[in-house]
Amino acid sequence: MKNAIAIILTALLLVNCSKKSEVVTEQKDTLNTVKQPSLNEQALDITNKNGVKMKVIPLGGKIVSLEVPDKTGAMADIVTGYDTLDQYINGDPYFGATIGRYGNRIAKGKFTLEGKEYQLATNNGINALHGGPKGFHNVYWDIKKDSTKEGETITMTYLSKDGEEGYPGNLSVKVVYTLSDQNELIIDYTATTDKTTILNLTNHSYFNLSGVVDSDILNHEIMINADRFTPVDSTLIPTGELKKVAGTPFDFTKPHKIGERINKEDDQQIKFGKGYDHNYVLNKKDNSLTLAAKVTEPTTGRVMEVWTTEPGIQFYSGNFMNGKSKGKKGSTYPFRSAFCLETQHFPDSPNQKDFPSTVLKPGETYTQRTIYKFDVIK
Ligand code: GLA
Repeated sequence: MKNAIAIILTALLLVNCSKKSEVVTEQKDTLNTVKQPSLNEQALDITNKNGVKMKVIPLGGKIVSLEVPDKTGAMADIVTGYDTLDQYINGDPYFGATIGRYGNRIAKGKFTLEGKEYQLATNNGINALHGGPKGFHNVYWDIKKDSTKEGETITMTYLSKDGEEGYPGNLSVKVVYTLSDQNELIIDYTATTDKTTILNLTNHSYFNLSGVVDSDILNHEIMINADRFTPVDSTLIPTGELKKVAGTPFDFTKPHKIGERINKEDDQQIKFGKGYDHNYVLNKKDNSLTLAAKVTEPTTGRVMEVWTTEPGIQFYSGNFMNGKSKGKKGSTYPFRSAFCLETQHFPDSPNQKDFPSTVLKPGETYTQRTIYKFDVIK
């Protein structure tokens, strides 16, 4: 009898144990199968009545696709990007990204504000670039979809803590993307701070209006509404001069093909930039919304205008692209296969007393608007 009871107890114990171990295995399996949301699951998209469509992800507030029509009405995605979140994390950090706190370079990552010297991380040779290694392109933004009378919107917010990436002040930032029925991508930036700081936000989308994967952009024609640009030293920091573009390969006051003068290595500035990688001083007197640039792709007839309240625009002709990417639709993104037009205050303004100020004080609201407007040759 005693033996029978012992056998029954042992059997019960074994059943119980094996149940427990099943539970543990089940939990493990669940953990193993919990998938990170995919790029598409994380993305929000907005569209307009003409079928123009764009997608944005929380990581870096990045624009991951933007589909616009050509002269026959055929839609194509005209920005560079990747298929997966992993590729966004490990690939080119700037594709489609929201850039902050400071777009472009600050010499040696140093600046002085109200008598205090600040040292930022240097992530581009001796200089600081695009807000530092984390910047705003490597943080997760809160994003939500809505609509206004102008069109569907994606509103993104981010609180950058005092001292983040070396910058002073708790900075509260809001970026709103609106897609209007006039085929405009409107980007509205606002920000406030609780300590005096510096700020220069932009978007770093890379465009190829042909929509053809891996083709170069040398045949695109560009007009830039600027009589002057800010020449740079060999580390791409402005010398402080506002130089006239007339008579140089930088003169785009009338449209020229990007490729026409891009290899004029006898021009020191072309040499330093390895092509175009320069800030233009827009022809304007105040911070009103004005036409900064117009790009035409002759084969497809796609046209993009850039309008901005900013005083400057960085024209970058993709000179650091190297064909080693694994991008959307099998693209590798070779040398000069996309261009950027980053509306901005001038690079290194905190160290250049004659450049428009980038200082933001408590009680003030930073407000900038940029519009990328899409059309076709008529
Ligand atoms: C900006 C800079 C370039 C380069 C790109 C990103 O346009 O001016 O020099 O760093 O960003 O690769």
